[in-house]
Amino acid sequence: MSETGPHSETTWDRLLRWERFHRTFEPVDFRRWKRASQAHLRTLFPAEGLRVLDATAGLGDHSVNLAELGFVVTAGDASPVARAATIESARAANVTIEVADLRWETVGTERPLAYDLVFHDAIHWIEAPDAMHAALTSLRTTLRPKGALVFFFADPRDPNEGAGERVRQWDLAHLPRMERLWRHPYESGTVTHEVLRMPSGDAIDERHVFTVGGGDSTSELQEATLRRIYRWDFFAMKRACADAGFTSVEGHLFDNDKGLPTAMCLARV
Ligand SMILES: C[S@@+](CC[C@H](N)C(=O)[O-])C[C@H]1O[C@@H](n2cnc3c(N)ncnc32)[C@H](O)[C@@H]1O
Repeated sequence: MSETGPHSETTWDRLLRWERFHRTFEPVDFRRWKRASQAHLRTLFPAEGLRVLDATAGLGDHSVNLAELGFVVTAGDASPVARAATIESARAANVTIEVADLRWETVGTERPLAYDLVFHDAIHWIEAPDAMHAALTSLRTTLRPKGALVFFFADPRDPNEGAGERVRQWDLAHLPRMERLWRHPYESGTVTHEVLRMPSGDAIDERHVFTVGGGDSTSELQEATLRRIYRWDFFAMKRACADAGFTSVEGHLFDNDKGLPTAMCLARV
């Protein structure tokens, strides 16, 4: 488990806490903006009463959307900040969701054969192949026969080896190395969120810096580094899913909120 990877509870707690804070200033309707993949999933699985584990609940956007679309939802997340936010979000939307401290690596043993679908928007953030194998095996075990794991980043339009590296090269060429994401009033001063991006092997490290105070010597700096992983493209995920016992991987395209074709993959039990 990498200290800079998505498994660090502290990293996610910190990022999610500030993201919650940021949203209090943000007029964007995040749930609507993120709804396209869940709506497409509903067209693929129209039956009533299907049980879905949203394995990456985060602030609860997808979990609430899935419940509103008629799925029976469990929102799982290792982060207590995420779970608290999801409970609040479900209450505000008046939907019923089970919120649970479920880890990708252990949910299969804790809840075997429990779900028809696992919705997972962060599987590609796993760095090490053995950690990917453990997560995929566990997620397969929590699925019922005919169930499927739903995941992203892997793109069937480029099924050849090296697709992930091509995306990384594009990101390196187009994403700014340093960016101020937002600044808001906070207590008697401000808080500023900046991100620095640095290539690191076949990944890109994103160092998030939150400057609490006016930016002078009395300011407090809070940092959280996430490693953007690019190795889990369609080619690599097909192999990893087969190794973990899935029978097939299919790619689907749907139009995102901007009308752009976007990939969503299903690994079938
Ligand atoms: C990319 S964020 C989720 C974003 C969310 N789906 C959204 O749309 O806002 C990834 C989430 O996975 C959670 N997470 C990371 N590693 C985990 C693990 N091993 N088991 C369970 N949750 C984990 C983090 O706490 C974080 O909330």
